[in-house]
Amino acid sequence: MKKGEAFYEGKAKILYATDNPDLIIQHFKDDATAFNAQKRGTIREKGIVNNKISEVLFRLLEKEGVPTHFVERLNDREMLVRRLKIIPVEVIVRNLVAGSMAQRLGLEEGTPLARPVLEHCYKSDPLGDPMVTESHILALGWASEAELQQIQALAFRVNEILKEFFDRRNLILVDFKIEFGLHRGKLYVGDEICPDTCRLWEKGSLEKLDKDRFRRDLGKVEDAYQEVCRRVCG
Ligand code: TMP
Repeated sequence: MKKGEAFYEGKAKILYATDNPDLIIQHFKDDATAFNAQKRGTIREKGIVNNKISEVLFRLLEKEGVPTHFVERLNDREMLVRRLKIIPVEVIVRNLVAGSMAQRLGLEEGTPLARPVLEHCYKSDPLGDPMVTESHILALGWASEAELQQIQALAFRVNEILKEFFDRRNLILVDFKIEFGLHRGKLYVGDEICPDTCRLWEKGSLEKLDKDRFRRDLGKVEDAYQEVCRRVCG
């Protein structure tokens, strides 16, 4: 398998073609942004840590019957994945109130929810990923009704699997974002699953061990990523 041209560079990753049109290489950078890239920085070794954590979590999901784009980890910063046609919707699942939900609804972070909440946002950097409804997604043709149903069911299933996995590692999965894409007509979980895309709080102390340490200037950012890596990969 030969590494080809970089064909996309995002805020945290670079995508490279390979000599197999079905497969691409996902390279994880240390760059971090927040608030739609108004805040920029680097988190030392974040790329290495997120690559490893994503590998473990994608393997776990596959084992539990959730299709993911993961094929294999190639090295410290790169994984081989299926080439997906990404559905332009970020799917967020919440177990506790935090972040934008706390802000938008005037609720305290950590407020429990009677059941998990699912939100969709339109993947658009210029627009700041605005929240959209199912109606928007269907009317604009971003996904079919069958695809959307499958996406929502998979998102809740991923939540159950990850919640239990993190719980056993003394971490509360507060919320997370995942993306889906199509490959040869089949839906897969894509992108990455890591402390950039999940909120993880230490059980008991509720210490934040995720990207909120960077977003909110809480310090010990690298330590938090390394600690999650130890618990997930160790
Ligand atoms: P939010 O509370 O800011 O809407 O974030 C919800 C979850 O989504 C949280 O776990 C962080 C994750 N997230 C991303 O992965 N990418 C983003 O651009 C944003 C804003 C949040």
